[in-house]
Amino acid sequence: LRPRDFDGVAVTITAGPTREALDPVRFLSNHSSGKMGFALAAAARARGARVRLVAGPVALDTPVGIERIDVESAEQMLESVLAGPGDLFIGCAAVADYRPGLPAAEKIKKQEARITLELERNPDILAAVAGLAQRPFAVGFAAETQDLVVNARNKLRNKHLDLIAANLVGERAEGRGFNSDYNALHVIWEGGDDALPLMRKSELAHRLLDRVRARMPNGEKV
Ligand code: PMT
Repeated sequence: LRPRDFDGVAVTITAGPTREALDPVRFLSNHSSGKMGFALAAAARARGARVRLVAGPVALDTPVGIERIDVESAEQMLESVLAGPGDLFIGCAAVADYRPGLPAAEKIKKQEARITLELERNPDILAAVAGLAQRPFAVGFAAETQDLVVNARNKLRNKHLDLIAANLVGERAEGRGFNSDYNALHVIWEGGDDALPLMRKSELAHRLLDRVRARMPNGEKV
């Protein structure tokens, strides 16, 4: 039996990819399936939390007892998150860092052999939440293809997070990370860290929540 150690805690979680429109029929996106974020939502709910799950386009069923808000772009995700960032925010979504500057109103026609895409920086959802005056306990993820711990520690500091969960993605991360049912995480906070080995995302979610609970002020807003 799981502890109900998140009883009364409002948790907002982002999951899945974002889609950034190029024209009415095309978009830029990535390989996130939403599995890690949905596992966290189910685990937090099982431990008594009230969960808002802000999801990019994914093909997953909503875990029982969870409020799910579907969005497409990073800008829509930011707006939905800021409408209720909760007491604990976990940014698990693979948010596109850039979007096409001006999406075409009509389908782009095939023309020259080479065309150029102009991209604009998207807002950083996690940094925006961590910068709120009434900030929740802010947990980020770091998806890295190399130098996992060093890069994640930089993100922890630059985005002013309370904790970050780093995972390997790409060619060196077979059987884990994007779209797998399994993952491994290196959990890092100011002054400490903990390596969680490869396991099912459903179990890993609980192990990550154990670390979060231990570092969060007890049931209080921070
Ligand atoms: O969805 P799955 O298939 O289960 O895969 C899980 C996962 C690999 C997507 C997940 O475990 C993961 O690593 N999620 C974060 C992916 C990511 O975008 O990482 P990043 O290192 O680029 O971003 C760092 C952090 O900033 C993340 O918490 C991200 O949500 C956040 N971010 C990034 C850009 C942006 N514009 N806004 C953000 O909030």
